[in-house]
Amino acid sequence: MIQYDTLKTGASMTSKSIDSFKRSLRFLGAGSSTLSKIYQSEYEPAVIARGKGCRIWDLDGREYIDFRNGLGPVTLGYSFREINNAIIQQLKKGIVFGHPHRLEAEAAEKLISVIPCAEKVRFLKTGGEAVAACIKIARAYTGRDDIIHCGYNGWLNVLSKGEGFRVNINRDAALKGIPVDIAKHHLSLPWADCAKWKEAIEQRHKQIAAVVIACDYAEFYQAKEFLPFLRELTAQYGILIIMDEIVMGFRIALGGAHDFFNIKPDLAVFAKGLANGMPVSVYCGRAELIDLSGEIGISSTYGGETLSLAALIKVIACYQKYNVIARLKESGEYIWNKVNSLFQIKKIPAEMKGHPACKALTFAEKDAGKKFMKNCFRQGVSLYHVAYVNYSHAKKDLDEAYCRIEKAVQNI
Ligand SMILES: Cc1ncc(COP(=O)(O)O)c(C=O)c1O
Repeated sequence: MIQYDTLKTGASMTSKSIDSFKRSLRFLGAGSSTLSKIYQSEYEPAVIARGKGCRIWDLDGREYIDFRNGLGPVTLGYSFREINNAIIQQLKKGIVFGHPHRLEAEAAEKLISVIPCAEKVRFLKTGGEAVAACIKIARAYTGRDDIIHCGYNGWLNVLSKGEGFRVNINRDAALKGIPVDIAKHHLSLPWADCAKWKEAIEQRHKQIAAVVIACDYAEFYQAKEFLPFLRELTAQYGILIIMDEIVMGFRIALGGAHDFFNIKPDLAVFAKGLANGMPVSVYCGRAELIDLSGEIGISSTYGGETLSLAALIKVIACYQKYNVIARLKESGEYIWNKVNSLFQIKKIPAEMKGHPACKALTFAEKDAGKKFMKNCFRQGVSLYHVAYVNYSHAKKDLDEAYCRIEKAVQNI
């Protein structure tokens, strides 16, 4: 096995991955189309060659046990045989057509059987654009303009001012390119701060079309009180709830947080997790709202792209066959409880918090968090501020990952 700590890495040293990343900066804006993937610290895999199961390899052949999982979408495992086969079989028959394909309705029917709030569904490609679709529906339906966001809802929430703004993005820079007349209709509020939400909604309820709620990772369980509170408050004023289930869906429960906590939103959005990494998103909810989407012109050429739909149908079958939701929880509990004990023993002020399938890595001190992450890369573990397990993390992989993390912690 490759010894991570003896390898030459780091921006100033040579490696195929770093060279490739540096070269890409000449052609590819920021070196990646996804902000959270951009190479940042020494030992981090700068450019990836391939993945299998729960492991990834960079261009230098260095292998990492991966808890990024494509930033969430890979829930079964990289290059998962049954999903690959479903994609290959469909590939032989064509990718996209100028008429509806049977898989579109088939996938819709399957989704309705597993997502509690879904009376009807429609497909798009990314999470952010599905959120945008729901916002347009909510505005058209209510005749109101204002939207309150909670958490990250895709790059579209550069629109919103307020306290829920995404970390790592400069708020002033992000608001550039957004006309003031548009930005004034978007506001962000913090997770589970009921007093703030009550005040904001009571003050401007006549203008609010919808609230868009993505659950907090670290304080996930506060949703038990927060979601019913929001449901009652919004119902009182005819405001719609759009649940952003992009991370939680197909991870903590098939139907995400509203399924887990038994709440009925008006609309919901799913994306990561639907198709083990194939690009597909879903907006769903009350039939009259989804039906409105045709009338108000929501449409995309790739909405019925069949490779992703074939993958999605197979993903649902695999979830049911292998009881994937239970496995993600068990695996997360197994490794992160051990890591939390390690933090305690070593007196490191850090904690993995939230639902076991997507725990937030929280550090009392930001720099210590960065150092920990860097040391983990060095030992061959790829972490992110949210730790995503997948179905292919077997117990032996988790034990191996734990040993690597134990070594990483020694250097903090
Ligand atoms: C909770 C949540 N909502 C929305 C999005 C946006 O999805 P996409 O990147 O597919 O547009 C993300 C992406 O990270 C997310 O985590």
